[in-house]
Amino acid sequence: MPEIRVKGSKKIILCETGANLLKTLLKEGFFVDNPCNGNGTCGKCKVYILSGDKAGVRLSCLVEVTEDLEVELLGEEKEGNVLTTGFMPEFEKEFREGYGVAVDIGTTTVAMDLVRLSDGKVLSQGSMLNAQKRFGQDVLTRITYEYDHPETGAAELRKAIVDSLNMELEKLCEEARISREEIREIDVAANCTMMHMLIGVDARSIGRAPYQPAFTEAKTMRAREIGLTAGEETIVYCLPSVSAYIGADIVAGVCVCGLQEEPGRVLFIDIGTNGEIVLVSNGRILSCS
Ligand code: FES
Repeated sequence: MPEIRVKGSKKIILCETGANLLKTLLKEGFFVDNPCNGNGTCGKCKVYILSGDKAGVRLSCLVEVTEDLEVELLGEEKEGNVLTTGFMPEFEKEFREGYGVAVDIGTTTVAMDLVRLSDGKVLSQGSMLNAQKRFGQDVLTRITYEYDHPETGAAELRKAIVDSLNMELEKLCEEARISREEIREIDVAANCTMMHMLIGVDARSIGRAPYQPAFTEAKTMRAREIGLTAGEETIVYCLPSVSAYIGADIVAGVCVCGLQEEPGRVLFIDIGTNGEIVLVSNGRILSCS
């Protein structure tokens, strides 16, 4: 069994002869950028192999490990800035006991607010990079991962995002000095693919014509059903999408800005990893992505 040593780490990785270097490094928790998810096309997964026949700078996704290797990682995981503040229009609020969490899951970044439901006050805020990026930087590459791993892909993608939401939830609750059991509701806006991947539903149909998602309607479930560590009674509410590429994040934006009631013509534009435009014209709403 070949051994891989990563410069700067004490860990010694044992792997099968012929194992893929990129996949092995990712599995062992090392960061290697891989926007094309190992297809050999993006050129971002370069590592420096320090010894042996393969010595030199190599695309790790194209390296089969057939001998002991010492590897130097060349990329660094970037923290990135996530915008967590913005304009909040006046809208009718329903005040209740307990706490709620608003979550926006983007393809690249995730933002969360913990809110006291009795007065709508935001008690703590958090953000992070979407941990699914190790399966590819864009939705189509992640869907391709599901095609390549039909048995495990959806579960692996779900676990990646749920684990990081759990970590962030813990931080938010600590900061607000409440227990996770006190969270009544977690409301999620996300693009359609991220929504499928959060609840572990196969997203492959979104990646091929006629691009039909498995669902677009709103979903309500217990947080624990999808692995979120909150109270036994905590509910997750996933906002509805319109179609495969007009997701619940756009629906949330249009609703919270009250655009359906806006007189005249308005454009609502979301520039993210995926881009969407909504045209509101005297109550008629058209969208594309
Ligand atoms: S070239 Fe894209 S991950 Fe290797």
